[in-house]
Amino acid sequence: MSSKMYITTPIYYVNDVPHIGHAYTTIIADTVARYARLRGMDTFFLTGTDEHGQKIEQSAKAKGKTPQEYADEISRKFKELWDSFEISYDKFIRTTDKEHIEGVQKAFEIMYERGDIYKGTYEGHYCISCEAFFPESQLVDGEFCPDCGKETVIVKEESYFFRLSKYQEKLLDWYKSEEECILPKSKKNEVIKFVEGGLNDLSITRTSFDWGVKLPKSLNDPKHVMYVWLDALLNYITALGYGTDEKLMRYWPADFHLVGKDILRFHAVYWPAFLMSLGLPLPKHIAAHGWWTRDGEKMSKSKGNVVDPKIVADAYGLDNFRYFLLREVPFGQDGDFSQRALIDRINSDLSNDLGNLLNRIIGMSGKYFDHKISGTNVRKYHAREIKKTESIINGLEEYMFDMRLHKYLEELWKILGIANKSIDTYAPWSKMKEGKEDEAMATIALVANILAKTALMLHPVMPKTTLKIAQALGFEIENKNFEKFILQNELLPDFTIKSIPPLFPKIEKPLLEEKKRETTPKKAPKEEGIITIDDFFKVSLKIGTVIEAEEVPKSKKLLKLRVDLGEERPRQIIAGIKEFYSPEDLIGKQVCVVANLKPAKLMGLLSEGMILAARDENGLSLLMPETTKKPGTPVK
Ligand code: ME8
Ligand code: MG
Repeated sequence: MSSKMYITTPIYYVNDVPHIGHAYTTIIADTVARYARLRGMDTFFLTGTDEHGQKIEQSAKAKGKTPQEYADEISRKFKELWDSFEISYDKFIRTTDKEHIEGVQKAFEIMYERGDIYKGTYEGHYCISCEAFFPESQLVDGEFCPDCGKETVIVKEESYFFRLSKYQEKLLDWYKSEEECILPKSKKNEVIKFVEGGLNDLSITRTSFDWGVKLPKSLNDPKHVMYVWLDALLNYITALGYGTDEKLMRYWPADFHLVGKDILRFHAVYWPAFLMSLGLPLPKHIAAHGWWTRDGEKMSKSKGNVVDPKIVADAYGLDNFRYFLLREVPFGQDGDFSQRALIDRINSDLSNDLGNLLNRIIGMSGKYFDHKISGTNVRKYHAREIKKTESIINGLEEYMFDMRLHKYLEELWKILGIANKSIDTYAPWSKMKEGKEDEAMATIALVANILAKTALMLHPVMPKTTLKIAQALGFEIENKNFEKFILQNELLPDFTIKSIPPLFPKIEKPLLEEKKRETTPKKAPKEEGIITIDDFFKVSLKIGTVIEAEEVPKSKKLLKLRVDLGEERPRQIIAGIKEFYSPEDLIGKQVCVVANLKPAKLMGLLSEGMILAARDENGLSLLMPETTKKPGTPVK
C-alpha cells in the first residue's frame, strides 16, 4: 500500500445550500482521510466550492447579487457546515482563488501548445442545470437533457474545442488495464459503454456570458471564458499548486476522487483525458456513490423536502448521523432518508450492540474487580474468540480502501457479536459464584480488548464517541496503538475501566417534527408511519395488463409502457425498471398499478400511473397477481 493518501470530494456548486447529499460525500471522504492518518499515511484531503459558470451567474442575478458576492456567501455556508462537522479537510479550495485561476490558465496553455485545443464553432444544445453539452442525437424528444430531463438551450457560438476524440482508445486501454480505476466496478461498464459509443470533441469555452476563467493572455482572445467543468476538474491539481507553486504536487496522482454517480462521466472520461493531455498520471480510483432521496423522491427546494444535515446531526448527534450514513446504504446504491431508519440504527446497532456491551463490562469490572482488569489469561480461555476477532479485523482495511464502508461496519459489528455472545456464554457472574475468578476476569478482559479494537477501527467513522470509549478503557487512539493492537494483533495487558455515562441513550420517538407536505391528510396520523384504513383507501391500486413496452431512448433507467386498466384507453406509464426488465419480458404480463397518481412528466414523457415493485440488494421484482385478473380489477 502506498504511504500517502490524496482524497477529494467534488467541489460543490454554490447555487444551492448544502444538504444531506453533500454531507454524505464529504463524510465518506473524511472517514477515509481519518483512517489513513490513523494508519500513518501522509494524507491530503481536499474539498471546496465550484463557483463559475452560467448556472451560478443566473442564480446570483435572481438574488440581485453579483456572482462574486453570491459565491462568497454560499461558499462560506459550505465551509461553516464542514467546520461545524469537524471535517478534517487539509484544504478548502474555491475556483475563484487566484492560484486556481492561474493554474487553470497554465493548463489551458499546455493543452493548446500540445495541439489538443483548436478553435471552431459550437452548435447544439446545452443543459444549464448540468452545465453540459449534448449532441442532438442524445436529447430526449429533441429538446430535453438526457441526464436531468430539463429543457436544454440552443447554443451557437465560436468556441475552442478539446480533442476528446483523440483519447477514446487510450481511455478504453486505461479502463481495461486498471481493474479498480472506477468503483464500484459495476459502474465501470456504464462508462466503458459510453466511451465505446464514440467521443465527440468537447467545447471548452463560452462567449455568451462571462462569469468564468479567462483564457490565458497568450491566446489574446478575451471574449471567451472557460467551460466550467474544465475549470472545476482542474481544482484537483491546482489545489496542489499546479502551475503556481508545485510543492504539494507530490500528492498527485489522487488516490480517490469521491463523487456522486451524477458526475461520474465528467470524472471518468473528461478528467483523465485532460490529464493525459497534460502528461500527468491518472487518478488511482474514481469512486461513485449512489443518490439519497427523501420518501423515494429527489430532494429539491421546490418540493420542500431537502434534508438539512445540520439539523439532523444536532438532534441525533453528529457521530450517530455519520454512522447511519455510512452503514445504511451499500456504497454505490441509492438510499432513502427517514428518521425511522436513523432511530433504528441508533437503538439497535449503537445502543444495544455497542453501548450496552460497554456498560456491562463497566458494571462487572466495578462489581467484581474494583475496575482493574488484567488481560493475562485472555488467550488461555478465549483463544477461539481472539482468533476469530483477529481474522475479521485483518479483513477490514480492504473494505475501507474500496469504499465499501457499509461492509466495513457490518464486519466490524461481527466482533461486537463475538463479545456480546461471550458474555452470555461464559457468564462471568456464574464463574464468580463458582469461585473461578480467573475465568470471569478473562472474559471481561476479552470484551474490553474487543471494545478497544472496535474503538480504534471505528474512530474514523465516529471520532468523538470512540475517544470516550478509549477513555473509559484507559488507552489512547493513536497511530502507535493502531499498529500494535490492529496490525500486530496485540492485546492490551491491563485495563482500569472507568465509569462513563451511557453513550447512546435509546431514542423513543422522532426528535424532529416532520414538515407537513401538501399531500398529508388533514387528520395527522397519531404515530409516525401509521395510517388509517381511510388513508390507505385513498390509493387506488389496480391490476393492469402490459400491452406495449419499449425503451425510452437515451435513458438508462426508463421503459415506456402501455398498460390496459380496463379503461377506454390504455395508460402510458414510464417506469424506472429498464435495468431489470427488457421490454419483451413484460408484454402480456400483469402488474399492479397506482391508478390515481397525479400524472407526471419523466424525461419529457407523460406518465399516468406507477407500477409497484420490490427492490433489495439482489435487484427488483414487479408485483404481479398470482393468477390472471381482469384489467382494472381493484387491489385491496
Ligand atoms: O456537480 N445524494 O456540484 P454539485 C447523494 N460542481 N449525493 C449528492 C446528492 C444526493 N441527493 N446531491 C448532491 C457539481 N450530492 C460540480 C462538481 S467536481 C470537479 C465539480 C453530492 O453541487 C454528490 O457528491 O451539483 C454529487 O456528485 C455532488 O454532491 C454534486 O454537487
Ligand atoms: Mg448537481
